[in-house]
Amino acid sequence: MSEQIDFTVNANMHAAFQREIARLRAAVAAADLSAPLAVGGIQRRYRFFSDTLHTHHEAEDRYLWPPALQQATPAEKVVLTAMESEHESLQQALESLDGAMTVLGPDTDVAGVQAAFDRLRGVLDGHCAHEERDAIPVLQKYVSREDLKEFMTYTRAQADSSLLLPWICDGASSAQVASTWGMLPGFVRVFVKPMTTRKYDKFTAECGV
Ligand SMILES: [Fe+2]
Ligand SMILES: [Fe+2]
Repeated sequence: MSEQIDFTVNANMHAAFQREIARLRAAVAAADLSAPLAVGGIQRRYRFFSDTLHTHHEAEDRYLWPPALQQATPAEKVVLTAMESEHESLQQALESLDGAMTVLGPDTDVAGVQAAFDRLRGVLDGHCAHEERDAIPVLQKYVSREDLKEFMTYTRAQADSSLLLPWICDGASSAQVASTWGMLPGFVRVFVKPMTTRKYDKFTAECGV
């Protein structure tokens, strides 16, 4: 059994995805979709969300399930295989929303877009709860620090990855904020926290969401 890894930030990220869906859904409903600046801002923020969600699942599929699958018991394999197929369902829900958000404008069927956000939220909620309850204990048995390092390297290669930590903390509980920033060593946090928070605040202001 490998040294147990703390996956709290994974759960914090799941909560951030759920908040972001609510944020973007409300922004689409409230915006003047005939105003190019407002539409461009929402689309920019949506692209960050969509890329982040896709990258998170891709990183889990590439770097977390495979090493665990190699060592898992038959019952644990059932859980890990379910994770892969839930990611496929999530990707389908995300792609249909991606399509609607790309052509956002005055002719958009807002109720239809909101329904697509609700569908994604439904699939995401079920998956996150399942992952946190059943898959994380399996990962904690088998995933090594080396596997996690590869997972983090892949995650950090995403465009705008410097926004990730302040974004996870936006609207989070104080415990979630503390554990998210707590993943950085103190001397790194001193520089990274103010720098990335400024960047995230600028991003939010420019997007208008
Ligand atoms: Fe996850
Ligand atoms: Fe996942």
